Amino acid sequence: NEVLPPKKVNWPFEGAFGTVDRKAAQRGFQVYKEVCAACHGLYNLYYRNLKDLGFSDAEIKEIAKSYTIQDGPNDLGEMFERAALPSDHFSRPYPNEQAARAANNGAYPPDLSLIIKARSNGANYLYSLLTGYTNPPDHFKLMTGLHYNPYFPGSQLAMPAPLTDGQVSYIDGTEASVEQMAMDVTNFLQWAAEPEMENRKSLGLKVILFLVVFTIFFVISKNRIWQNVK
Ligand code: HEM
Repeated sequence: NEVLPPKKVNWPFEGAFGTVDRKAAQRGFQVYKEVCAACHGLYNLYYRNLKDLGFSDAEIKEIAKSYTIQDGPNDLGEMFERAALPSDHFSRPYPNEQAARAANNGAYPPDLSLIIKARSNGANYLYSLLTGYTNPPDHFKLMTGLHYNPYFPGSQLAMPAPLTDGQVSYIDGTEASVEQMAMDVTNFLQWAAEPEMENRKSLGLKVILFLVVFTIFFVISKNRIWQNVK
């Protein structure tokens, strides 16, 4: 069965001047937290990183506190559990890969920290995957436990459609259609995969500006220096 090329979305983070849409990414965090986090980790992020998305210190403390993580060993050499702090990694849904596979019929839900970078055309692909679940065509042989999605290589995967209309109640009142949630969580995961993007782009623009100014300066100097040489 043919794999469909990803749908083309105009993302606010694309291009030399592109930036993260913080409102969308905040909503996307809510989708990740309430839906995806049941199966997917986001281990490269620390709770304190959410400050960059516009969450306050108090909000971040509250968010972290709602998770319990393993810590230790303590002075007695024991592992123990405690509430997460802003300085902790995002908590993992499973302690290890075996546990993750055991809970998902043998399939492994990958960590989403770098998924936007790990797949080619990552943002469009993720959006298409999340909005692309349909019934298989008649001739298609769907394996038991797998779900049809023409955007996934092979057109079937172990992840059931994770989003349904109205699944989250957005804090800002935005209507939570599947498309909206897919868009928002993609914005969030793009930021998560490349939190330095805005700094990188703005440094790049300054470097170009610097080079342009210096080129002009050097051309003028060169003409002055050589003006008497015929
Ligand atoms: C795979 C995203 C929710 C279980 C994946 C992949 C992505 C993804 C990008 C990898 C696809 C690839 O390899 O190209 C998301 C997002 C979610 C979400 C953004 C929330 C909106 C869930 C939930 C579950 C789940 C709730 C568990 C019930 C899995 C599994 C796989 C997977 C088992 C492996 C599929 C396979 O390799 O056949 N997901 N997911 N996901 N996801 Fe999710």
